[in-house]
Amino acid sequence: RVPEPCALVIFGVTGDLSRKKLIPAIYDLANRDLLPPGFVVLGFARRDWGDGEFEEVAREWAKNGARTQWREDAWERLSENIRFVAGSFDDDEAFDHLAGALKELHDEHGILGNAAFYLSIPPALFPMVLNQLERTKMADSTTSGGWRRVVVEKPFGHDVESSKELNRLVDNVFTADDVFRIDHYLGKETVQNLLALRFANQLFEPVWNAHYVDSVQITMAEDVGIGTRAGFYDKTGTARDVIQNHLLQLLALTAMEEPVSFSSEAIRTEKLKVLHATKIPDDLEHDAIRGQYEQGWLAGQRVPGYLQEKDIPPDSTTETYAAIKLGVQTRRWAGVPFYVRAGKRLPRRVTEIAVLFKRAPHLPFADTDTEALGQNQLVIKVQPDEGMTMKFGSKVPGSAMEVRDVAMDFLYGEAFTESSPEAYERLILDVLIGDATLFPNADEVEASWVVIDALEDYWEGTAPHKYRAGEWGPKAADEMLAREGRTWRRP
Ligand code: BG6
Repeated sequence: RVPEPCALVIFGVTGDLSRKKLIPAIYDLANRDLLPPGFVVLGFARRDWGDGEFEEVAREWAKNGARTQWREDAWERLSENIRFVAGSFDDDEAFDHLAGALKELHDEHGILGNAAFYLSIPPALFPMVLNQLERTKMADSTTSGGWRRVVVEKPFGHDVESSKELNRLVDNVFTADDVFRIDHYLGKETVQNLLALRFANQLFEPVWNAHYVDSVQITMAEDVGIGTRAGFYDKTGTARDVIQNHLLQLLALTAMEEPVSFSSEAIRTEKLKVLHATKIPDDLEHDAIRGQYEQGWLAGQRVPGYLQEKDIPPDSTTETYAAIKLGVQTRRWAGVPFYVRAGKRLPRRVTEIAVLFKRAPHLPFADTDTEALGQNQLVIKVQPDEGMTMKFGSKVPGSAMEVRDVAMDFLYGEAFTESSPEAYERLILDVLIGDATLFPNADEVEASWVVIDALEDYWEGTAPHKYRAGEWGPKAADEMLAREGRTWRRP
């Protein structure tokens, strides 16, 4: 799948996302020969750079961040069509210049008027940039004669109201089909594989319901702190940063019914039903736990507490951890808790979805220590050791009939010789092709906010529990499961 000739315009191209993800992903696509001839990258930012400076910096970013091997000739070919326009987002002249440059590039490179605009900028700047795109007619596909798409990075608003406002704004300028909201978790191979696992096999789906499943645990643990994003993070917190989007998307893919086809519309329809059926717990005090890290040790190094991080107010009550018991109110999932947790400064970076099955109703082995025999588990390892583990009981060799838990692993690295594209690589390619399957639509985003808003309303004015950096979150989160006779997995 190679897109039609086109241009990618990146607003905020000097930022972190561009350095770490976008430019390396574009290089990887070029290196895999997945970009059309004459493909143009047009960067826009305030910095006073020329084409040459931008090209030089971009080369370093690509070299440092690329997944594929460095090939000078692949970069050379790509960099022939890399341009930079300097200007601020309220500067009409700079946008006129951008529109002119785009037109020129279209004429020069025969890119047929096709362009995608990537808003890699803080949401507060969206209205300004969208207005400029409208004013200069850059957003208008009839004037340009090709397609015009817009890519919006999360956060998609701050709550239901602001996300509706944002959706209205974007919809005023672009048609709904041309809006691509990036949730980079959907670009991960292992996340896409959830659908293959469930719907390409006969083995799992018959037990994928409340008759057999005891509970589901979705974990997104990070060992890093908030890095240099204090300003953003302190206004946001874990629930808004990663649960509203990444984790609720994982939940939706785990719980959804089989789509009638693999079209973006059919998949979004099923995910949306789950999001509408997702309910917060009745007992919010015990089942919706927030945490904030205190100073502690990670990988042999002392790390500061959240309140000591640079630019964090010393009395901040923003959470860096959240664990919530959610329910999916459908016949399939009635009574099955979906425990969702995410946090920073936890012992290691790991994201997984664990489906825990009910215990066998009867054990005929007199010698078996039923305590030692756990539940059957299917663990989808999203990252970093991509794959899947199945846990089940097996006879211990010897004369006694002793049964013990064993694990069976499927690892991407062992099963496939093909390398996984980085999430952004896949998603950028899909934008250029116009395939919206891996992008949440406005309704999904709004339905996710409904869940998060209810939690935020409850948390408002409360203080998060404390946990030491390097530990698996606050005690209250363990107690939440212990009250129901369960424990968190230690991935
Ligand atoms: C981002 C969050 O969406 O995802 C960050 O804003 C988080 O806070 C990041 O660190 C994690 O992404 P990944 O792909 O490394 O799990």
